Amino acid sequence: MLENNAMPDQLNLFQRIRYSIFPGTLARPKYRERYRSFFNSLILHFRPRSVNERSLRFTLTWGLGGMAVVLLCMLFTTGLMLKFVYQPVPDRAYESIIHLQNNVLFGQLIRNVHHWSGNILLIIVFLHLLRVFFTGAFHPPRQFNWIIGLAMFLGVLTSNITGYLLPWDQLAFWAITICTGMLEYIPGIGGWLQVVIRGGNDIGPPTLSIFFAIHTAIIPACLLILMPFHFWRVRKAGGLVIPRRLDEDEGSEDEKVPSIPNLILREIVVALVLIAGIMLISLFFDTPLGAKANPGLSPNPTKAPWYFAGIQELLLHFHPLFALFVIPVFMLMALVSIPYFNYQTKTAGVWFTSGRGRRMAALAALIAAIFTPISIVADEFVIDFEAWIPHLSPVVSNGILPAAIVMAGITLFYWLVKKKYSATKNESIQSVFILLTVAFIILTITGIWFRGKGMALMWPWELAG
Ligand code: HEM
Ligand code: HEM
Repeated sequence: MLENNAMPDQLNLFQRIRYSIFPGTLARPKYRERYRSFFNSLILHFRPRSVNERSLRFTLTWGLGGMAVVLLCMLFTTGLMLKFVYQPVPDRAYESIIHLQNNVLFGQLIRNVHHWSGNILLIIVFLHLLRVFFTGAFHPPRQFNWIIGLAMFLGVLTSNITGYLLPWDQLAFWAITICTGMLEYIPGIGGWLQVVIRGGNDIGPPTLSIFFAIHTAIIPACLLILMPFHFWRVRKAGGLVIPRRLDEDEGSEDEKVPSIPNLILREIVVALVLIAGIMLISLFFDTPLGAKANPGLSPNPTKAPWYFAGIQELLLHFHPLFALFVIPVFMLMALVSIPYFNYQTKTAGVWFTSGRGRRMAALAALIAAIFTPISIVADEFVIDFEAWIPHLSPVVSNGILPAAIVMAGITLFYWLVKKKYSATKNESIQSVFILLTVAFIILTITGIWFRGKGMALMWPWELAG
């Protein structure tokens, strides 16, 4: 073997260095094949040997799960680099970020890559959840992988919130004051939880240490455990769901193709395009950094980070107990139970469950797009249960009453579409899911772009004034 690998004569310096690292690349042709198969089998320790040809279609996954993995890798790498400079104490945190940006080679770029990867990851994971839902990839045997995915989603969300405080600027300090203030409304344990997470009654040095530990140790550790578990479940389910029409079968062994190069090449292309995109964004758009945190001066309006803008918007329409506890807990429970409803039809792999499912989905999106803004404006300028029915406690007039009206609206919608389309359970549940998702997106957009001073409704171009 050694003899056959002996270094060829007359190599230049670069070839000799390359040969010292990858001896196979310069070996005689008949041995090159042996090295290639060695690398291939290394890759096959991580990737399946073969995959169904139909599941390779880009329009099945849109590369979203893979993109989430790449973004997580970028976050881990840049996060570790940031740790060399960042100091998690209020007196030094802000200054260490300024130092990173001004004096450390590529410091600003590394911070930008971390910031944009974290924020874009949230959007990508949300889109991945939607694609998994709309292709019915949560039906058996993939039920539990949906739950693992949800846990990872919560992990990514927590990473973003805890990271948000670390720069210790005005934006960070007040946004986290608002978010941790929300905890107070959790019945029973809210006050205690708030003190535990803040490390005291107010945001201060212990809060920063706690957030830093959660951000750089606890959540990364949880994600590192959950990720392999998530991928293992994909393998155990026999690979991805196979895209098909409702009348088509789920495919056969004949349709399998080797992963190398079919899957691997696609994954590399998606990863490279994504990395190039993140680098471009990071070159042109710097991570915001406001003035150093000043606990005595709160900005107006004080807004939560964009991913909580929907919940902050809910707070303007419902009693805090409902906006911060009842509605989010209800939504989370609904998300967790999605795979466990008793569905009659096997729709795994069928986009939007059927043609009728697609029409119902469009109708649900349209209804939410019309009624959500109308309800927001009506609640701001017209509806005032507190004045209309005096002597009612705020929990009833701002909580139970509006929540009951919304629930009645959703139930009526469910009942009407089910009847009008003679829909299956899958199609009806899907349309309610879309109704709520679109409504939540509109609440989020309103909170980000249409709320100004005193959280009053205004046009985006008036916000700056
Ligand atoms: C950090 C977060 C996440 C990462 C890194 C991740 C990664 C992946 C990857 C790489 C795949 C295979 C390729 C693909 O479908 O694009 C996948 C599949 C899957 N993911 Fe995720 N995922 C995450 C979050 C979620 C969430 C939030 C859910 C749902 C609540 C979820 C549910 C699933 C399911 C059910 C599959 C199997 C899909 C199928 O068989 O077609 N994942 N995930
Ligand atoms: C899911 C993974 C992660 C997400 C979503 C995430 C997200 C974030 C976000 C949004 C910020 C605030 C950046 C800014 O706007 O100023 C941040 C800051 C930071 N992160 Fe992460 N991060 C992740 C993983 C990590 C890891 C693994 C480490 C280190 C081990 C790390 C270390 C840091 C440090 C030191 C900062 C402060 C520097 C700064 O704010 O620019 N992060 N992270």
